[in-house]
Amino acid sequence: MERVRFEEVSKRYVLGERLNAREALAGAVRRAARRTVQPPDELWSLRDVSFAVADGEALGIVGRNGAGKSTILKILAGITSPSAGVSRTRGRVAALLEVGTGFHPELTGRENVFLNGAVLGMSRRDLVRRFEDIVNFAGTERFLDTPIKRYSSGMQLRLAFAVAAHLEPDVLVVDEVLAVGDAEFQRKCIGRMAEAEQEGRTVVFVSHDLDTLTRLCRRGIWLEAGQVREVGSAQAIVRDYLASGLTSSSSGGALLASGPVTVRDVGVSPASGRPGAALFREDAFVIRVGFDLAEEVPGLDLTLFVTTPNGVRVLDEALSDQGPVQLAAGSYCAELSVPPVLNFGEFTVGLWIGTMHQDFIHETAVTTFTLVGTGHDRPERILVTNAPFEIHAIPSLASGPITGEAGVD
Ligand SMILES: Nc1ncnc2c1ncn2[C@@H]1O[C@H](COP(=O)(O)OP(=O)(O)OP(=O)(O)O)[C@@H](O)[C@H]1O
Ligand SMILES: [Mg+2]
Repeated sequence: MERVRFEEVSKRYVLGERLNAREALAGAVRRAARRTVQPPDELWSLRDVSFAVADGEALGIVGRNGAGKSTILKILAGITSPSAGVSRTRGRVAALLEVGTGFHPELTGRENVFLNGAVLGMSRRDLVRRFEDIVNFAGTERFLDTPIKRYSSGMQLRLAFAVAAHLEPDVLVVDEVLAVGDAEFQRKCIGRMAEAEQEGRTVVFVSHDLDTLTRLCRRGIWLEAGQVREVGSAQAIVRDYLASGLTSSSSGGALLASGPVTVRDVGVSPASGRPGAALFREDAFVIRVGFDLAEEVPGLDLTLFVTTPNGVRVLDEALSDQGPVQLAAGSYCAELSVPPVLNFGEFTVGLWIGTMHQDFIHETAVTTFTLVGTGHDRPERILVTNAPFEIHAIPSLASGPITGEAGVD
């Protein structure tokens, strides 16, 4: 059964009000001079976006800043309406969009919980039954009779999430806000969202935390400049989204160029062995960046980072970590030697070049590589460090001889 359907939804914002007074005046004078009426500046936040979410499905939306993710959620929650197209949602929608959204600042926490429930169409009986769960989850019982305006933003978030997640909505919409809470609360929220999904509720989740997103959502949408670039399994979407920074170096031209820096090529190869050979999990490997520098740039630095398909950054190394960097104009090859600490799987290499004050090459994914091998039955782990792990019998507690040779000298 379908819960949410977007059919060629477009959203247009008029930007006129963003102009400052001087620009607005200049525009008015210009228009008067030309005696023509100019249409106001407009921006299409969404363009012909179509998708559907089934009952009980968790959908994750990814995309760069300004891609239109929050706009989709606002339309879903009924806070704004499409300029064109149709959006249909069956059932009750609870949305957690921004800190404090949906709360009345003058009312107390308790009053706000009841107000939210009423807005969602819950009966008073259901509300009373759920009230304790909400308050326990939020951990704000001491402040129940305090006006919301005296809550810290973290407390508001906790209560808002608790309300949205416990008022038995058919559709739970959550936008990024988890980033505001502490780690423990984030875990609780993710757990609660997973529960909501298991209870058969539909969840729509926007996050730049791709790891959490793939754990929580089975399906995904990748939004780019207001349009759907890809729909599919969350895993596949995240992988393609991460790899989208890739630029092909096959043309022989520059990969990336900005200011005095031109990146010619980026490659990953075994530390010992020919370039292009398979990379084994058990072996060290080298990431190489070939670049040209048109002039000496004081304080120039280069970082390489490695992320998992879910977006977890496992390595992030700066050239300057090793000591001061000073490069004259010329051609260079930077080499990062990575010891065999990563588990098998797919990884993405990212690059940044700049100074304290200026980015020449913004953080960009530049290539991907795959480590082959086995994770010794623990594919979930990212690192395989073989860190020393010993066991010692404690004489006063253990009876009999010490068994096992590890750590015994
Ligand atoms: N009220 C508004 N008035 C004018 N423009 C708006 C308004 N709200 C959003 N926009 C514009 O619409 C576009 C999409 O914005 P949206 O907030 O949906 O992006 P987003 O994908 O959520 O980005 P982020 O990752 O930064 O949260 C942006 O260019 C934004 O500037
Ligand atoms: Mg947003």
